[in-house]
Amino acid sequence: MKLTYNDPEKYELIQNQAIEIIQETKSIQSLHKVKAELIGESGFITNELKGLGKLSLEEKKFFGPLLNGIKNKISTLIKEKEEEFSQKNCEKTDFGLLPETDIGLKHIVSESIELLHTIFNNIGFEFFEGPDIEKTYYNFDALNMPEDHPARDNNDTFYMSNDKSELLRTQVTAVQIRLLESISRINKDIRAYSIGNVFRNDSHDATHSCQFQQIEGIILEKGVTMQHLKGFLEYLLESFFERKVKVEFRPSFFPFTEPSCEVFAYAKVENGKLILSEDGEPLEIGGCGIIHPTILERFNKPNAQAFAFGMGLERWIMLKYGIKNIHSLYNNQINELKNIKNSL
Ligand code: DAH
Repeated sequence: MKLTYNDPEKYELIQNQAIEIIQETKSIQSLHKVKAELIGESGFITNELKGLGKLSLEEKKFFGPLLNGIKNKISTLIKEKEEEFSQKNCEKTDFGLLPETDIGLKHIVSESIELLHTIFNNIGFEFFEGPDIEKTYYNFDALNMPEDHPARDNNDTFYMSNDKSELLRTQVTAVQIRLLESISRINKDIRAYSIGNVFRNDSHDATHSCQFQQIEGIILEKGVTMQHLKGFLEYLLESFFERKVKVEFRPSFFPFTEPSCEVFAYAKVENGKLILSEDGEPLEIGGCGIIHPTILERFNKPNAQAFAFGMGLERWIMLKYGIKNIHSLYNNQINELKNIKNSL
């Protein structure tokens, strides 16, 4: 529709439409578009104003103020809107004005792993890793666990293939074998540790999960004894729990250590929380021993001595934070996790 100077009603219509668009626009881009189309250098109102010169004096007196009025009104509204947008932008980037939000916290499992890295690094241990999907050789064969060993039963192990050559690692002790293999041609002492996932087709109760983590460590040094192993583990526990821990070492059997021990920490349930306590009951927290000579011989170290240990990370965390059910650590109940963390 062609607008003419004789059409004041249509000017008003344009003005009203423009006001509506400006007020409702959600983006600075569409605001600039309206501005260019109406009052920009070759905008509609600008062009109409430019054409005023051709009109009679009487028409000029009428259309001049009318068009200038529209121009000023639109220009003021656009300025106000621009101001509004720029304030909103400021609010977005000015962190001081951000509304209070609930920011995340580090999970206690991650925090505990970080603490263990610090403890081990401080006493000169190297970190070693192996894959979660492991060769049966590293997980069982090389650890003196023959094919008919009960732990190799299908009920405990998740095999990856029918030929059972690969599995989901059932013990981080597999990393110990990878480590010994890597130094089989080198004559050097070793202080190393690993922390990683293990998987077992175990019963699913408050203290067992089909996936959990183990802390595994080894010291290969001439002359190490069970006495050193015991002293070392007491030091490790004290550093992790930041207090003295009453522990007990009970003779046990692992095919890859001789002698072997199970390690127990004294704990009890108090006010619904599992806590370390000298007058509590012994709770198993891991195994340890002197590495079997056949294993050291397998990796070209017939005259070496070494001790090793493997601990359940979640058990340690449960004892430290008073958690009765291992699944509380992994069921993603944010409030429950926060309460656990704050209770320390
Ligand atoms: N791998 C054993 C387990 O999962 C724990 C263990 C026992 C690890 C004795 C060791 C060890 O390194 O020496 O039950």
